[in-house]
Amino acid sequence: MGYGGAERTALTDVPKPSARKGELLVRVHAAGLNPVDFKTREGMLKIVQSYPLPIVMGNELSGVVEAVGPGVTRFAKDDRVFARVAKESMGAFAEHALVHEDHAARMPASLDFAAAAAVPLAALTALQALRDELDLSAGQRVFIPGGAGGVGTFAIQIAKHLGAHVATTASSRGEALVKRLGADEVIDYTRERFEDKLSGYDCALDLLGGDTLARLWSVLKPGGRVVSIAGMPEPVTARKDLGRGSGLAALFWLASLTTRLRAARRGGSYRFLFMHASGADLAYLASLIDAKRLEVVIDRVFPFAEAKEAMAYLETGRAKGKVVLVLA
Ligand SMILES: NC(=O)c1ccc[n+]([C@@H]2O[C@H](COP(=O)([O-])OP(=O)(O)OC[C@H]3O[C@@H](n4cnc5c(N)ncnc54)[C@H](OP(=O)(O)O)[C@@H]3O)[C@@H](O)[C@H]2O)c1
Repeated sequence: MGYGGAERTALTDVPKPSARKGELLVRVHAAGLNPVDFKTREGMLKIVQSYPLPIVMGNELSGVVEAVGPGVTRFAKDDRVFARVAKESMGAFAEHALVHEDHAARMPASLDFAAAAAVPLAALTALQALRDELDLSAGQRVFIPGGAGGVGTFAIQIAKHLGAHVATTASSRGEALVKRLGADEVIDYTRERFEDKLSGYDCALDLLGGDTLARLWSVLKPGGRVVSIAGMPEPVTARKDLGRGSGLAALFWLASLTTRLRAARRGGSYRFLFMHASGADLAYLASLIDAKRLEVVIDRVFPFAEAKEAMAYLETGRAKGKVVLVLA
């Protein structure tokens, strides 16, 4: 199997993996889908992460620990866990998967497996972007274009939890949802240009890239900061997020030049974030969920046998919240 469209994927039997040092063998009950899954399948991310093919895909899961490898101290057999699995190996779209104990957390007690599997990748991305990269604090104003999808539904709520004033964009299909999640201002991007409606924002978390990222600078105050998860990677992405050297940093320097110049012209900054797996951050998110401070929005749940249909649905780009596969 090579990179390409859905015809490059197949549901097949593979050997059950064994937990190595520091790893949990998890009986997977549900797995979340993310755009990174079809981007990886297409080979769009080969420059940052290439894989020996064929490989078991899938980047996040919930399930029950079946066995632990040597040196595991924080988890035991029968624990219910959820995780963003290591991007170097993936493996969540399977009956059994390996998860490093540092990447796992106990499932929120208030969620079933399907809802828990929807959390890790998107919620960690939102948390790490808003809290760690934008350093968002109470009273600040943040613009989050694209609020109705997997990452956006978590980002709006986390930004509100941090005490910020939140503006977002959505079509009429997503407007009621983003308002319910706490968005203070909602621009219908199919009818209005957000730059005609918003100004004076401290920062932005861009979930769309492209034309949206090019246009959002005028919404910000001079010195405004932008973190994107869908635009062009920049040199810090290569070094900090990917642990890579000057070759990739130079390539990203060139790729992000136009965006960084737009930022510099306004005395602002631009950062592209690749999220990272973190059991500690996930445990924090679980505590917010169990305290009813963070809602998990599920658009559709598919049986595992319909993984291709589920991926095709996510690829339409219209999901409201998350798309999930259930295995058990
Ligand atoms: N760098 C990282 O670490 C990282 C991590 C996670 C995700 N990502 C990337 O972030 C992006 C978002 O991920 P996601 O999981 O949130 O995707 P998603 O769930 O597929 O997003 C779908 C949502 O986007 C909305 N949307 C589409 N075009 C829009 C536009 N022009 N304006 C406003 N809303 C629009 C859709 O609303 P309508 O139906 O109303 O149009 C839909 O609700 C993807 O490119 C993904 O690869 C990167």
